Amino acid sequence: MRLVKLDQCPAGVKLGKSIYNENGAVLLAQGTYLTNSLIERLKQFHIFTIHIEDELSEGIEIVESIPEELRIEAQNVITEGLNAIIELNTNSSNFQGMMKSGRAVRSMQKVFRDLLNSLNENQTALNLLATTKVYENYVYTHSLNVSIYACQLAIENGLPIPKIEEIGLAAMLHDLGKLHIPREIINKPGKLTDEEYALIKTHCEIGFDLVKQVHEIPIPVSHGALQHHERIDGAGYPRGLKGEEIHKYARIISVADVFDAVTSTRSYRQALLPHQGIEVLFGGYETQFEGKQVQLFKECIAIYPPGLTVKLNDGRTAIVTKYNFNAVGRPEIRIIKDEENQDIQPYEINLGDPKHLILEIVEADALLNV
Ligand SMILES: [Fe+2]
Repeated sequence: MRLVKLDQCPAGVKLGKSIYNENGAVLLAQGTYLTNSLIERLKQFHIFTIHIEDELSEGIEIVESIPEELRIEAQNVITEGLNAIIELNTNSSNFQGMMKSGRAVRSMQKVFRDLLNSLNENQTALNLLATTKVYENYVYTHSLNVSIYACQLAIENGLPIPKIEEIGLAAMLHDLGKLHIPREIINKPGKLTDEEYALIKTHCEIGFDLVKQVHEIPIPVSHGALQHHERIDGAGYPRGLKGEEIHKYARIISVADVFDAVTSTRSYRQALLPHQGIEVLFGGYETQFEGKQVQLFKECIAIYPPGLTVKLNDGRTAIVTKYNFNAVGRPEIRIIKDEENQDIQPYEINLGDPKHLILEIVEADALLNV
């Protein structure tokens, strides 16, 4: 299986992984042979890359970081939870609403414990790109992804379980305030006006106020909503906090947040690949983000996930076949073209092997025709 750009796919390619909607229903099943009309339909859903099965990529497995069933359950719990809290009005006599949001928070805490256990058991480099999804409302999917990335980052920080659980809940709730902002503005392609940008920025305080109303939510969790757009150099919002003035949870969540934002497809732009997302984070090393978090994050992400096409510094082309846990940036690969770009009988090498130390990946992309 490999990852390719949809606009390079001719009719007849075989879908390697199912495509889901945000509720977890299968829109297009694995094994489907794509027709031109299906390809057009997927483009309308703003899907840019898909996994396909073909001869060159035979035997390459793309492992999901979180089992499908758990991911779908977590997505539904988060969606319901965010909606329950957003429905709370500021009238504190809304007893029913308080009960409902309290229950929703407990469900979120429970499902987060399942995510945490799953990450602890699987010990694989995170690859959330392994699932292709079509969504109506980006906030819900983003909240799940950020909670998974933040969870792994909290584990890498060596934090105790109760703190990891608080970070997980904070990550699930961090963008809650965005549900209060008109969707046309959140999804607006192109440049925002000053007024629109000012409105979007209010989501931190709106989220903070909503989260504070729910007694079941520990106080430090609300800092995730309030401070996840603060930046180490003080250039963030809403308060322009600097360095360690920013709550630890927010310093972790901001890294997870930006990585998911740039590696997710939005209606107005194509997603970056993981190695490009990591570059964005390093671009903000110790200015936007705490350097330690960026470094730790790099170590837990599948920078070159299996199925990606890569070019080596000697001109050869390959498909990534496996992660290399000892060296995340140096995966195992299947060479498919030689230095002169000629098709060859494929063979595999491990970039983590010391004898290949002079080889480097210089380009990576989701390509069908290379
Ligand atoms: Fe945000």
